[in-house]
Amino acid sequence: MLTQLTYLLLSCATSALCQGIPAPAPYVVPAFQPFNYTHLYSSCDGISHTEECTLSSLPQGTYAGGVTPMGYSYSMTVTNATTFGFIQMPTGQFNGPHNPPAPQFVTVLSGAWYVETGDGKIRVFEEGEIMFQDNTADNPAAMNPQHSSGTVDDGVPCNIIATKVSFTPTCDRPCPFS
Ligand SMILES: *[C@@H]1O[C@H](CO)[C@@H](O)[C@H](O)[C@H]1NC(C)=O
Ligand SMILES: *[C@@H]1O[C@H](CO)[C@@H](O)[C@H](O)[C@H]1NC(C)=O
Repeated sequence: MLTQLTYLLLSCATSALCQGIPAPAPYVVPAFQPFNYTHLYSSCDGISHTEECTLSSLPQGTYAGGVTPMGYSYSMTVTNATTFGFIQMPTGQFNGPHNPPAPQFVTVLSGAWYVETGDGKIRVFEEGEIMFQDNTADNPAAMNPQHSSGTVDDGVPCNIIATKVSFTPTCDRPCPFS
């Protein structure tokens, strides 16, 4: 039976630490790479639109952990989330003119869905795409800024994460986070 000391000596014989291999270079935090989201917003006349937005910089800090440099990330607290939901929308579904229940982020996990905005434009969202919308019924625009939506009829459902946030709806203000 190996004593603890024998065990340590044996493992030292095969470990890198005991063979003069230098410690790895300190971790250098790579530069931030911009990422994108789409804003479904209303102009103040009450017509809904989509706008492509870019987060061009985020503050560097530690989001979780953070004792070692590996814990570094780039993050921005937009606002507090109030509700989070996993939602599966069946394939080929159509939802006529409506408002979101609250300002929310919709992130596509799989499948695809689309919105048709009041300006007649259709924007399809695929896996990994993020949409923020604040075209709620209580938006300050002159008319109710509704949109229609549906899932792409490709035989697979669209799985999303919907995250409602505390955010005061605005009009004529595309891309509120940059
Ligand atoms: C963000 O959008 C820009 C402009 O459309 C595009 O060039 C870039 O590749 C996008 N970045 C990512 C991570 O998708
Ligand atoms: C989120 O909620 C906390 C606690 O209620 C509050 O202190 C903080 O200011 C809120 N953050 C934002 C961005 O609204």
